[in-house]
Amino acid sequence: MPADDAKDQESPRADYTGVHEPQYRRIAAGEQPGWSSPEEVAGMLAQIDWALGLPGAPSAGRLLELGSGDGCLTERLAARPDWRVSGIDIVPLAIELAQKRLDAAGVRAELAAGEVTALPWPDHTFDLVVDSHCLHCIVNADRAACLGEVRRVLRPGGLLIVITMCGDPAYRQGGEFDPATRNLVRGGIAGRHFGTVESILSELAAAGFAVKQHRIWPARHELENDDLVAVAVA
Ligand SMILES: C[S@@+](CC[C@H](N)C(=O)[O-])C[C@H]1O[C@@H](n2cnc3c(N)ncnc32)[C@H](O)[C@@H]1O
Repeated sequence: MPADDAKDQESPRADYTGVHEPQYRRIAAGEQPGWSSPEEVAGMLAQIDWALGLPGAPSAGRLLELGSGDGCLTERLAARPDWRVSGIDIVPLAIELAQKRLDAAGVRAELAAGEVTALPWPDHTFDLVVDSHCLHCIVNADRAACLGEVRRVLRPGGLLIVITMCGDPAYRQGGEFDPATRNLVRGGIAGRHFGTVESILSELAAAGFAVKQHRIWPARHELENDDLVAVAVA
């Protein structure tokens, strides 16, 4: 069976744009300021700085943010003089909003509308890839495809910092948790993947990464999950 047909038959299926675009419409309409709050962004930066403080971590170069959204974190990364920042997101409206945010802040980053399973950069382009809550949005076979692509665009020895929800879901938002796939499913669409610490570390190893360190960033609210922060070398 051709790969695309096999993907169409994956059940429950993915709809990355359908799941995420409505929130960007609300942001564009001024109903909320951004995907991530300033506190959440500060927390992510603290995790990234912890990872970059580990021995052998790169201190400058090219950085790719996966699922950069409306640029709440991108803006802060792009303000760092040692890094040349790129971001990718599947929702074109998110890219537009991120560009406006960067322009208003007077900082520059290269933003691409596209899928993390088909990164539009040549092999070995980046020194650092940051997953700022994108990988837990990726389900089924796309997870391995995404990690394979990340490894491809990292230079050998480059670093991947994963910041991703783990454990059983603390909130279900009208969805149902399928313990077999560990997907949260709503209306037949798998919108989030809640891996265990062990399963996520295994996925990284299966993609050829050497996991250097990991730790838990505890949930900030009752209706949130802990994040696994994993630092992996390509
Ligand atoms: C939870 S949001 C995080 C946004 C941003 N990183 C932040 O922390 O504010 C996840 C982002 O990943 C994007 N995304 C989901 N699936 C994707 C895919 N297959 N390819 C590229 N981006 C994707 C979504 O559109 C969304 O912007």
